[in-house]
Amino acid sequence: MAAADPIGLFDSGVGGLSIMKEVRRMLPHEDLIYVADSKYCPYGEKTPQAIQERARKVTEFLLAKGVKLIVVACNTASVAALKYLRAAFTLPFVGVEPAVKQAALFTKNKKIGVLATGLTLSGEKFTSLVEKFGGGITVVNQACPGLVEQVEAGQVSGPETETMLRMYLKPLQDTGVDVVVLGCTHYPFLRPLVVKIVEPGIQVIDTGMPVARQTKRVLTQAELLAPETRIGQDWFYTSGNPSLVGPVVERLWGANEVVVERIPPPFATD
Ligand code: DGL
Repeated sequence: MAAADPIGLFDSGVGGLSIMKEVRRMLPHEDLIYVADSKYCPYGEKTPQAIQERARKVTEFLLAKGVKLIVVACNTASVAALKYLRAAFTLPFVGVEPAVKQAALFTKNKKIGVLATGLTLSGEKFTSLVEKFGGGITVVNQACPGLVEQVEAGQVSGPETETMLRMYLKPLQDTGVDVVVLGCTHYPFLRPLVVKIVEPGIQVIDTGMPVARQTKRVLTQAELLAPETRIGQDWFYTSGNPSLVGPVVERLWGANEVVVERIPPPFATD
């Protein structure tokens, strides 16, 4: 493993790009390889075993690309597979979790809301996060089926997505939360809509920055930060159809002519 090796990131689809944006900002000298496991999206409706299996195959693909660290840029996969990955592979993994800790610090009225997949909210990891940081705080959990699919389709601002979001935000608004946690890496792409729907002054937070900071910390400790003489490059892969995934990656990543390649069969089959 060498400092000039790339960092791998993966998600069930394009959502993890919200994490990759912060990693790119914080670590401009690193090469980044992103995998959208689109053929198997959404993870939120799979069993933990099925997610572990996908996480293993994507990790094997990224290892074949020579990565030095993997960011599991998906809350659901972090809940279902992070422990498994750490036991099965020796390279460092950085996971993500809903920003309950930050929300508990920010809330003034002791009421916070968390939007995430059902699998994330029902996981042991989330329960212990709330137990650890949510003492004395009302936490409104809201699963949001369908939202991941809207982002995957590039529908981040249309009326259909807005209607769904209004429905999911209603219980949070009825409770009067003053912080909304975007607990799925797809949801930061819906932030403008969320901000439009909730009352002014309500904070809307996600975990992109803390994950990027943690990635930097782990690489620093391992003495694996890329030399500052390098300019980092970005690569994108999908297990789905590149001609469908490509335009959405381009839109969400915010660059023209992004090349999205298909990951080869052994890593994209059940
Ligand atoms: N971006 C994933 C997350 O953070 C979406 C999960 C899914 O595919 O259901 O949980």
